[in-house]
Amino acid sequence: MEHKFLIGSATAGGQVEGYNTNSDIWAMEYMKTGGYSEPSLAAANHYHTYRQDIELMHQAGLNAYRFSLEWARIEPKKGVFDEKEMDHYLDVIHTCREYGIEPVITLFHFASPKWLITEGGWESESTIEYFGEYAAYVAEHLKAENIRYIITINEANMGILIAGFLEKIMKHMDGAGLQIGLDLENMADNQKLSEQENLEVFGVRQAAVFTSPRTSHGDEIVCRAHRKAVEILHSILPDTKVGLSLSLRDLHYTEGGKQNAEKDWEKDFLHYLPTIRDDDFFAIQTYTRAVFTEMGEQDPSSEAVLTQMGYEYYPECVEHVIRKVHESFHKDLLISENGIATDDDSLRIQYIDTALKGVLKCRDEGIPIKGYMYWSFIDNWEWQSGYSMKFGLVSVDRTSQKHIPKPSLSFLGSYTEKVNHQ
Ligand code: BGC
Repeated sequence: MEHKFLIGSATAGGQVEGYNTNSDIWAMEYMKTGGYSEPSLAAANHYHTYRQDIELMHQAGLNAYRFSLEWARIEPKKGVFDEKEMDHYLDVIHTCREYGIEPVITLFHFASPKWLITEGGWESESTIEYFGEYAAYVAEHLKAENIRYIITINEANMGILIAGFLEKIMKHMDGAGLQIGLDLENMADNQKLSEQENLEVFGVRQAAVFTSPRTSHGDEIVCRAHRKAVEILHSILPDTKVGLSLSLRDLHYTEGGKQNAEKDWEKDFLHYLPTIRDDDFFAIQTYTRAVFTEMGEQDPSSEAVLTQMGYEYYPECVEHVIRKVHESFHKDLLISENGIATDDDSLRIQYIDTALKGVLKCRDEGIPIKGYMYWSFIDNWEWQSGYSMKFGLVSVDRTSQKHIPKPSLSFLGSYTEKVNHQ
């Protein structure tokens, strides 16, 4: 059966539900060396408002919703699964169905149960088994739900991207640390404080959370955890399509920069090809482009329009990344995240319009692209940046917790009809 093209929005539990208190990130929000600018607290209160939120999606015309199940809620203690929390997510799924919204599920979106970090986290072999047990528990409970798409791990390459970013900063400082007034003593003190805090909170000196800079051993662990989950999900849910998501940028280069751009694509995408070989689809997450010269990656030019995140405004990235991925991966594709952080909703509308036109061009040329999920449904807690980034199609009055749709919500929804009746 040919399914409808999916037009929807995405969220992650840790960023919208509120009070994900058994997660590693929740713990880090209160650590001096955790790196979080403000705590998530109630976030968008979505744990309690999902029904009204899904109704808003339906009223605006969306036909899909991508959200994450929170491992820290479902398995708050090692080996102890909380049936009530799984029931909560089943209710979210049933509410989606009630409103004609296709639920697209993410098993893991950055937040781990705190106990996993004590067990060694994302640099430890044991995480592969633990993730497999969690995947099996969830799959058993989804048997009657007819779920079309499950993404195992959100942006599996994030730790590697962060490691690369830190390496670049260190290189820039190379030998110049003292010249730019870098306080090496202070850095060493911070390192000590961080070890102390990690010991107190997680019982380990180095906390290997999902967004910690990752070693290549850690990368291998993440890939094997994905493959383990795919195998389990395929055996329990044979009709569900299973895939991985990666964070990708549209890579451009000027004369002499081709090799650098190719190296980056290898690191971000190509080296995951063996990992996703048995998957049924691949989930693309992209927000902007990067330009490479002979010297490496350039900062955006002075003419570039920058979003609140400091990214170049470049909605064409979606079309370009789809084409690039399709060169080496020929199965189904989903855009599981794409969006813009801005206070200017008319700019968001323009961004979505350009992005979606590019997606549809690819579809009309025969690339098997099955849907587009805008990030984010609602103004979310943007991890270390706190509440300062406005990605949402819906805003949150943080005093009354009222959810107020922006014009971009119905703009996105107006595409559903268009793309399914051509
Ligand atoms: C992540 C989201 C995040 C978004 C915007 C993606 O990297 O999956 O959790 O909020 O980008 O920065």
